[in-house]
Amino acid sequence: MGQKKYTIVTHGCQMNEHDSEKISWLLENMGYEWTDNKEESDFIIYNTCLVRENAELKVYGQIGALKSIKKENPDLIIGICGCMMQMEEIRNIILTKYPHVDIIFGTNNIHKLPQLMDRYKQTKDTVVDIVEDNREIVEAVDANRKYDFKAFINIIYGCNNFCTYCIVPYTRGREKSRKPENILEEVKSLAAEGYREITLLGQNVNSYGKTLSLNYSFADLLTEINKVDGIERIRFMTSHPKDLSDELIYAMANLDKVCEHIHLPVQSGSNRILKAMNRRYTAEDYIKLIEKIKNAIPDIAITTDIIVGFPGETEDDFNDTLELVKAVRYDSAFTFLYSVREGTIAANMDNQVDDSIKHDRFQRLLDTLYPIFYEQNLKYKNKVVEVLVEEVSKNNDKMLTGRTRTGKLVHFEGYKDLIGKLINTRITEIKTFTLGGHMV
Ligand code: SAH
Ligand code: SF4
Ligand code: F3S
Repeated sequence: MGQKKYTIVTHGCQMNEHDSEKISWLLENMGYEWTDNKEESDFIIYNTCLVRENAELKVYGQIGALKSIKKENPDLIIGICGCMMQMEEIRNIILTKYPHVDIIFGTNNIHKLPQLMDRYKQTKDTVVDIVEDNREIVEAVDANRKYDFKAFINIIYGCNNFCTYCIVPYTRGREKSRKPENILEEVKSLAAEGYREITLLGQNVNSYGKTLSLNYSFADLLTEINKVDGIERIRFMTSHPKDLSDELIYAMANLDKVCEHIHLPVQSGSNRILKAMNRRYTAEDYIKLIEKIKNAIPDIAITTDIIVGFPGETEDDFNDTLELVKAVRYDSAFTFLYSVREGTIAANMDNQVDDSIKHDRFQRLLDTLYPIFYEQNLKYKNKVVEVLVEEVSKNNDKMLTGRTRTGKLVHFEGYKDLIGKLINTRITEIKTFTLGGHMV
């Protein structure tokens, strides 16, 4: 018998991407080997997301389509995990409508996958294993990382913010910080393996430390990580405007390895809507914060998330969002149509916005944002910037892509042995979403 093969399909945020790297590590330890081809897989697992309806619907479609593959190959094991599985109603839909699913687990018990596989192989009955709360942080699972020069590291799990539109606090549970010594140990071992860049992950990284019984903040953690030899770039995602302290801005400005980029979701520019979203800041607070950050770190790139069509959003509210994005001058943004998530407070609000209005506003938002992104990129024209080389271009094997410290994607000519190295490029070509340059 040949080696067993596995496929992981990952939806959702970096948190899920990193969880999939952990699943991959577990499976490779069990002797499985990665394949892109579902037809030759012995195990296929879907790591799911529930943040918007289209993420959820995609999974039902994909799981449905596996029925015929399973008919051809009855030994195929199908698993589903991730945020959708933390919701009982959704597990019940899977159990009743998709009986060809064999293993169901959640976001708090990934480490149990080998046991769950054994249990399934013995009984051939669907195995369901869910841990509702995330009080216990499991340190035993390593990750089989996608790159060997940049890595994700979890620092805080869950979320306590309960923004009224968002399902994440219901799937990922309450906020819980990982111990600094465990994080530092992971950073050091990655540095020893040759990793150069790390991204610290959490739904709200700047509230790091609050659940520890130490007096230890996110800025303290950055300060410690900044001392680790070998690590050259430190990134983090995501920050909440209400928790972004002066101490953190000071740390970002003064720690040489912390990159000049902050992802700071604003969601809306209307104070009325921000209040209804339970974001706990005003548009004025946000703009003041941005000014403070820009003063401390002049060449910082600022990116954001924006939701269009939250319940009750009027034309005036939407115009406030347009005004805010013009004032901030974002480098990039993720924009979303508001999506009703059952179980959240906003799902029961009775003033839902029409789809056609949402789509119209969405388009107008993009029409406002794109010229701003382009103008922000113009600042790079003829400048020499450091990039971390990431990959060979998909459509031209003589072209490489890399990222600046500010997170901009740069295309330039070069050979693949540069992947993982820091090099300098002169920027000659400006586009809305990318830059073009030459090695210098
Ligand atoms: N914890 C992070 C990100 C959470 S999810 C943060 O707070 O910034 C990523 C983004 O998805 C959110 O910032 C929000 O813009 C968007 N989002 C969350 N729930 C949504 C919903 N119901 N409809 C549309 N967009 C949503
Ligand atoms: Fe969701 Fe708000 Fe928490 Fe982000 S901060 S995960 S948007 S509840
Ligand atoms: Fe989705 Fe869960 Fe992330 S709902 S956005 S995968 S935390």
